[in-house]
Amino acid sequence: PEAPKAAPVNTVSQYACQRRTTTENNNRIFTDAFEVLAENYEFNDIEGRCLAFRRAASVLKSLPWAVRCVGATQDLPCLGEHTKAVMKEILQYGRSFEVEKILSDERCQTLKLFTSVFGVGPKTAEKWYRRGLRSFSEVLAQPGIHLNRMQQSGFLHYGDISRAVSKAEARAVGNIIDEAVHVITPNAILALTGGFRRGKDFGHDVDFILTTTELGKEENLLISIIESLKKQGLLLFSDYQASTFDISKLPSHRFEAMDHFAKCFLILRLEGSLVEGGLQRAQGDGREWRAVRVDLVSPPVDRYAYTMLGWTGSRMFERDLRRFARLERQMLLDNHALYDKTKVEDFIIPRQTDSLPRQ
Ligand code: CTP
Ligand code: MN
Ligand code: MN
Ligand code: MN
Repeated sequence: PEAPKAAPVNTVSQYACQRRTTTENNNRIFTDAFEVLAENYEFNDIEGRCLAFRRAASVLKSLPWAVRCVGATQDLPCLGEHTKAVMKEILQYGRSFEVEKILSDERCQTLKLFTSVFGVGPKTAEKWYRRGLRSFSEVLAQPGIHLNRMQQSGFLHYGDISRAVSKAEARAVGNIIDEAVHVITPNAILALTGGFRRGKDFGHDVDFILTTTELGKEENLLISIIESLKKQGLLLFSDYQASTFDISKLPSHRFEAMDHFAKCFLILRLEGSLVEGGLQRAQGDGREWRAVRVDLVSPPVDRYAYTMLGWTGSRMFERDLRRFARLERQMLLDNHALYDKTKVEDFIIPRQTDSLPRQ
C-alpha cells in the first residue's frame, strides 16, 4: 500500500460550498467566455457541457489570483480539456474563436435576446425563433402570438428590469416591504436574501424571506402584502404561488430544486426620492421612478433556516451544498429540511437538476 501523501497546501475543493469566494472576480476574461459557452449549450439542451463550463467558471471565480498560463491550473478541479483549450486561446490571442463564433451566431443572439425578457424561457424563445422572429418588434407585431401576463409585463418594463438594481435601491425596496409588513403584523420577520445578502453591489432583482414569529400566522402574509402594495399604487406585476408545503409529507417524496413555500414574483414601482443618492441612472424620459423585480418567499418560521440557506445562493453554491451533503455526509438537503440519507432510503432521489424558471 502507498504511504499516505501529505495533503497539498492550498487545494481548491471541487465543491463550491467548500471554497472561499470573494465578490471580486480575478478571472473575468475566462469566466465571461465560459458563460457564453454554457448558455449556448443550455440553448441546445446539452446539460452536461453547460454544467461543466459553469463549474469551471465557479472554480476560477474563487481564485484570489489571475490565471496567467494554463500550467498554473493543473491542480485545480473541474477544468477539463475543453475548458483549458479555451483558456489557452484567450491567453494567446486575447479571445476565443469558439466564443466569437457563438456570439455572432444569429440563433444564439436571438435566443439570448428573447430570454432576456421576464417570463420568456428557452422553450418560448426557441418557438419564436422557429417562426422566423428575430426582434422584439417582430414578436409584438406577429399575429397569433399570445403573450402571458408575465411576458406582457416583461416587455412593458423591459428597459427598467434589465437595468441592474443597486444596493441603495435594494435598501429602499426593503423599507417599503418592511413598512407594509409591520402594518399587517407587528411580529414579522423580514430578511434580505439572494445576491444582496452575499454582498453583491448589483442584482437583477431583490430577494426577501418573510415570515412571522408565530407558526402558522405566515399563511396569509404574502396575500396581505400584495394587497397593501397594490393599494399604495406600487404594484406593477404580481405572480403569487400559494404554498404546497405539507409538513406531514416531510421528508418529501422527491428532493427537488424548487421549494413548496408560498412565494411571489413581483415588479414594484420605486420612487427615486426614496433612494439614497437617487436612482441607478437618469431615466432620460423625465420619469422619477423605475420598475424593480422583487421576489418574496414565505416559509413557516420553523423552516426559516433552510429557506435562508436555499435562497442565499449562488446557484452553484446551492447545487454543490446539496451534492456535498449527499456524497460527503450521507445527508439530503433541500430548501425544506436536512435528512440523514441512511434513514430515508425508501424515498426516490431524482438526479439533481436546476430546472428553476429563468427570471
Ligand atoms: N431560488 C429558489 N427557488 C426559486 C427561486 C430562487 O430556491 N423559485 C434560489 C436560487 O437557487 C438562488 C436564490 O434563490 O440561489 C436567489 O435567486 P436569484 O434571485 O435568481 O439569484 P441571485 O443569486 O440573487 O442573483 P441576482 O443578483 O442576479 O438576482
Ligand atoms: Mn436575486
Ligand atoms: Mn413535489
Ligand atoms: Mn430572485
